[in-house]
Formats: sequence, C-alpha cells, structure tokens
Amino acid sequence: MGKLLAATAMCSGTAAFAVDLEVSHWWTSGGEAAAVAKFAEALNERTEHNWVDGAIAGGGDTARPIMVSRIIGGDPMHAFQFNHGRQAEELIEAGLLLDLTDVAEAEGWFDIVNPPSLLEACTVDGRVYCAPVNIHSWQWMWLSDDAFEQAGIEVPSDWDGLVASAPALREAGIVPLAVGGQSWQQSGAFGVMAIALAGEEAWLAINRDKDVDVAGGEAYARVFEAFGNARDLAAGLNVSDWNQATNAVITGQAAAQIMGDWAQGEFAVAGQVAGEDYHCLPGLGVTGILDTGGDAFYFPVQDDPEVEAAQKELAALLLSPEVQVSFNSAKGSLPIRGDVDLGTVNDCTQKGLELLAAGQTLPSGNALLTPDTNQQVNDLMTEFWSDPSMTAAEAQERYVEIIANAD
Ligand code: BGC
Repeated sequence: MGKLLAATAMCSGTAAFAVDLEVSHWWTSGGEAAAVAKFAEALNERTEHNWVDGAIAGGGDTARPIMVSRIIGGDPMHAFQFNHGRQAEELIEAGLLLDLTDVAEAEGWFDIVNPPSLLEACTVDGRVYCAPVNIHSWQWMWLSDDAFEQAGIEVPSDWDGLVASAPALREAGIVPLAVGGQSWQQSGAFGVMAIALAGEEAWLAINRDKDVDVAGGEAYARVFEAFGNARDLAAGLNVSDWNQATNAVITGQAAAQIMGDWAQGEFAVAGQVAGEDYHCLPGLGVTGILDTGGDAFYFPVQDDPEVEAAQKELAALLLSPEVQVSFNSAKGSLPIRGDVDLGTVNDCTQKGLELLAAGQTLPSGNALLTPDTNQQVNDLMTEFWSDPSMTAAEAQERYVEIIANAD
C-alpha cells in the first residue's frame, strides 16, 4: 500500500496495511475444505487482509512436522492449526509464537470460551498463545443405513451390536468397519474403544495419572481384545486417508467407522442426512461422553508490527460469533463459545450439544500426553493393526511400557 493511501486509511480509522496472511492447516477433505473456506471468506470480506491458503495434505501427523520445520527454520507462515493441547509447548517455550493475551482480554475470551480448559490449553505462564476455534470429539461411531439394509439387519445401537452384525454384513459383501491405513486413525479408534469399554476413570488413570497397573489390568485387557476384534472387522478395505474410509461408509461399501465428528463434514458434502442415511453413536453407544479435542490457531512471531496487527485481527475474527457459527456448522464441530446458537442442527450435532451441556466431557489425549508419547502409542497401534500375529496381550505389554515412561 502506498504511503498516501496508508495515511488515508489510518485517518479513516481502519487498519493501515493490507497483509497477505498465509495460513497453514491440514484441512483438505471435501468437508474440511468447505469449512476452512468460511474462515477465508470472513477474512477477505470483513478485513482488508487476504487469506493465502496453506493447506497441507496427508493429515495432522504429516502436516505438523512440516509446519514446525518452517517455523524453526526461520520461514514461518502467519498462522497455523494445531490440535488443542500440548503440541505447541516447545514452540512457545522457544519464544517463537505470538503472545495473544491482549486480544484475549479485549475480546473477552476468558468469559466466553467454553469449556475454559480450551483457553487454559493455550495459556503458558499466564499468557495466551492460541485462538481455539472448535470442539471436536473422537468419541463417535458412524453407521451406514444402506449397508445394514443391504445385509437385511437393523442398524445396531452399540459396539456389541456391530460385532454381532458382522457375519450378515460379510455375507452381503460389506466390510463391517472402515479404518484407514494411517497410524493416528488406528490409535484414535483404540482411544475411543478404551473410553467406551473400560470407562472414563480407567482412561483418566492411564492418560492423566500414568497408572501402569490400570494400563496392564483387566479392563484394558478387554479393550485390547476388542481392538483385536476390530482389526478383524476391518479386514478387506484398503484405504489410507480417513475420508476415504468415511466415503466407504457413505457408499455402503463399509458399515461403520470409528472417527471424530469431522466425519460429519463428509456426510454433509455427500448430501446425506443424519438419522436417515446414517446414524451416529457417541461413545460407541456404551458410554455417552465426548472428549473436548479440536483445533486452535497459533501465530508465529514476525518481526513486523503491521503483520502482527493483522495476525491479531485474524485471531479475533476466528472467535467472532458469526464465524464460529458458519465454520462449525460446515465442520461438524461445536463452537467454543457458549453464547452462540448454531441454528438448526442435525440429530448427531444435537446429541453432541446435549452431552456438552450436561458436562459429559473429558480432556483430549492430546491435552494429557506429550506429542512424543502420542507418537509411541500411534506406532504401537499401527504395528498391532498391520500384524495379525501380534496378540492383544503382547500389545498390552508394550502399551504398559509406553505409559511407564510417559510424562
Ligand atoms: C482435527 C480435525 C480434522 C481431522 C482430520 C483432527 O486432528 O482436529 O479438524 O478434521 O484431524 O483431518
């Protein structure tokens, strides 16, 4: 912007400089792209800045190391997505991320962010370093009505029901459970099964208190057995990305998928209706509880006051009521502020909102375990998943070792 124009803009009370803001994220599926477009539209239409889309394909495990290496390598983007929790701890400690405390104070984030744990996860030594944008929970199973109809059976109402349906589904040429080939998907399914089948207390004892007795105990032995069962139910579908697995459910090629509620974005893009074309079971129909995971945006430090001002404008915009509604409606996630109304929501989102309102929530695994421990769990689960000769008991033994070393 030329000097004269800049001066005029300043006099008229708007920000002085238009900044191209490069934003990195891993939202590349159909539903995710539709959702992130809401952020881009809001920035482009409501500020003078421009959204430069920095999508990285391949999921979070692929994207995060690429983002980190750009930031520590001195070529930072202006904003990036991470999950709620501990993923950015080291970048914050290294002083590489912008302090957003003034934005949080000016925008009232301390009063509006719900649950408060999401803002706490952004806070280090009393300073706020991220803008939480949604609540996503892993604790869901998605079921294809068409698949069960083809098999001539009812849509099951819990995990055992799915297991019992498997012979009829196989008979009809349908894969009972769709699981993609990436380790985070297998590990995520394990986490959901653990909370649903062993219960909240056992899960917290391990993930929060690092209790090796519980990790090696009977309740978790049953979870590992069930996970071994899941491995059998998933045989025969060779897909890699999570949304390819969701697509197998959408097309009735597979009957079910254990996946976070971002899967709803895919059903929506495919024109499917909750309660008619697909059903959803929070907590696998066993334990109705949601983990409060999801996404937050961080802003690498840039040595330029105008850029910093634009970054802060974006941070504030992401939490504004209108953007919270438009983004989360497309994303299948829940808003991080209790004072907005999503309008008409489908059956599944309604169930999610009710659990949230009833306080039936848990922190996410990303909030309790370090990225390093999470990676070790992912590696173990994928090894178990791809090697049918590994027994549930062997996997459990290895799991106990990981928890014993976790901090
Ligand atoms: C993110 C979601 C995203 C999903 C699949 C999760 O880690 O929280 O926003 O849709 O990964 O890409």
